[in-house]
Amino acid sequence: NLKVPVITIDGPTASGKGTVAQQVADALGFHYLDSGALYRLTALASLKIGIDENDVDTLVELAQDIHIVFREGCVRLDGEDVSLDIRAESVGNRASAIAVHGALRQALIARQRAFRVPPGLVADGRDMGTVIFPDASLKVFLTASVEARADRRYKQLIEKGFSAKLDDLSRDLRARDDRDSQRAAAPLKPADDALTLDTSNLDVDQTVQTVVGWFRERMQNK
Ligand code: CDP
Ligand code: CDP
Repeated sequence: NLKVPVITIDGPTASGKGTVAQQVADALGFHYLDSGALYRLTALASLKIGIDENDVDTLVELAQDIHIVFREGCVRLDGEDVSLDIRAESVGNRASAIAVHGALRQALIARQRAFRVPPGLVADGRDMGTVIFPDASLKVFLTASVEARADRRYKQLIEKGFSAKLDDLSRDLRARDDRDSQRAAAPLKPADDALTLDTSNLDVDQTVQTVVGWFRERMQNK
């Protein structure tokens, strides 16, 4: 499936990767991989059975054994709809904590690459362009100021019915940025051949149009 085109969208927390990736996929009729959801699902499963965040062997087993279905915007974990549960900040923070383990990352590689099927894939995460799809047709690195990102995540959480404090969110977001970019295994960083887009002053539509435009340009110049 190496001929199937892939667009990777990496970047820090709440930079807009998920929202933008989903809409780019819709615009092009491509499949969509939310790789962060795989880390969140493993995190949620690990919280449910109450293991330590550094119990790597059990985490790897969980990552291999859990049954995951993505359909029509919903995520099922072993048959249960957990679409909302995995969006809790506690689960996001646990996801970031377990994502430092190289063995866990390794265990999730095949599941991620399996999403690459015709007519194409848009994949978002931290290491889509650097590790999982190094031969992607287009690699985008989305950024935005900490203030813009904290503000976006705050609105999202309130909308979903979670309680949230802007100060706590900014603090957690910085901590997550630091951990994601400083870890040894697949740290968050733009691929050498990525195009960086700062979305602090762009709305979703403008961001989607920019990415789709870049992709069409790439395909024409191939
Ligand atoms: O996936 P990631 O954590 O990077 O971000 P997200 O879950 O897509 O959340 C981004 C939020 O910011 C969404 O509520 C978007 O509507 C909003 N937003 C955006 O994604 N892009 C912009 N350029 C402006 C706002
Ligand atoms: O929505 P947000 O950007 O905060 O998080 P996410 O994309 O759902 O990912 C949750 C956590 O999983 C991140 O903080 C990363 O530590 C980890 N992750 C990763 O290590 N590699 C990926 N490809 C995707 C997520």
